Amino acid sequence: MIIDELKKIKDDAVGELEKVENLKDINEIKVRVFGKSGLLTALSKGIKELPIDQRPLVGAKINDVRIFLQEKISEKEFFLEKQELENKLANEKIDITEPGKDVIVGALHPINDVIDKLTDICVSMGFSVVEGPEIESDYYNFEAMNIPKNHPSRDMQDTFFITDEILLRSQTSAVQAREMEKRKPPFKIVCPGKTYRNDSDATHSPIFNQLEGLVVDENVSMADLKSMLTILMKRLFGEDTAIRFRPSFFPFTEPSIEVDVSCPNCHGKGCSTCKGTGMLELLGAGIVNPKVLEMSGINSKKYKGFAFGFGLDRTAMILDSINNIKNLYRNDIRFLSQFK
Ligand code: PHE
Repeated sequence: MIIDELKKIKDDAVGELEKVENLKDINEIKVRVFGKSGLLTALSKGIKELPIDQRPLVGAKINDVRIFLQEKISEKEFFLEKQELENKLANEKIDITEPGKDVIVGALHPINDVIDKLTDICVSMGFSVVEGPEIESDYYNFEAMNIPKNHPSRDMQDTFFITDEILLRSQTSAVQAREMEKRKPPFKIVCPGKTYRNDSDATHSPIFNQLEGLVVDENVSMADLKSMLTILMKRLFGEDTAIRFRPSFFPFTEPSIEVDVSCPNCHGKGCSTCKGTGMLELLGAGIVNPKVLEMSGINSKKYKGFAFGFGLDRTAMILDSINNIKNLYRNDIRFLSQFK
């Protein structure tokens, strides 16, 4: 009886081993045959029921089968391991002669590039970067900047009004009053962003970009403004850049200046970029009008400020030799991909 069972166990196991295709299934066979409650173990337990003289013989036979099956299993395991490794190697094969896949990397828009460069320089000088809304109230865009309703200086900027009180901001100066109301001096902020005016030719676009800067502290002077702007320009356009300050007028600064830099294209000799003048006008600036400080709740006896407004489109056009401002807003991939 035991001998018949033993034969069956052996034949079954051999049959299964032939069919088995992976190491996991082999393990199952191992457990079923040799495990603690496996078939051979159960059979061995039956030996003590046999007459004494048969016991050694049957024990030896069970042992033979155990050894036989263990060998078969090892052979099969060896074969399957080898096969698995070969499969793995075949699947992971890399053809190093195949041409690589193109990785398409985008480019920063020239305006964003200028914003990054300028804000980096300003942050290194201790400025914080802030933002403000593009749809703005008449109050922040004009009144808080000392430009009352019907004041002639409103004509300096041809503004897009949405209602009598709401407009598309015509200058990032609108953010000045917002920040002055929020902050306690001393503070230094820059605000890059889009601005809008009804103006359109090769150097003017109805949408354009400015970067506003504002410093409020005790004892701020025109000398601080001039030295800060000189450093800013030299870092942006190069150490050999010449800077010219001209008197000007803005209702929110007193005194006011306009700032020109030597044309980075011809270094002041005169070319088409600077229309033969050798200089380029890039920003308006000045000492914050005390009226503006007071309107936003800052004590103008104690605190002074300086502010500047940078034309970013102009700057991008100079740095990247772009001749028509409209190219900055057409989103033509052929144009934009040049700036990689
Ligand atoms: N807001 C002014 C403009 O758009 C520029 C400016 C900013 C001038 C800050 C002085 C101070 O023309």
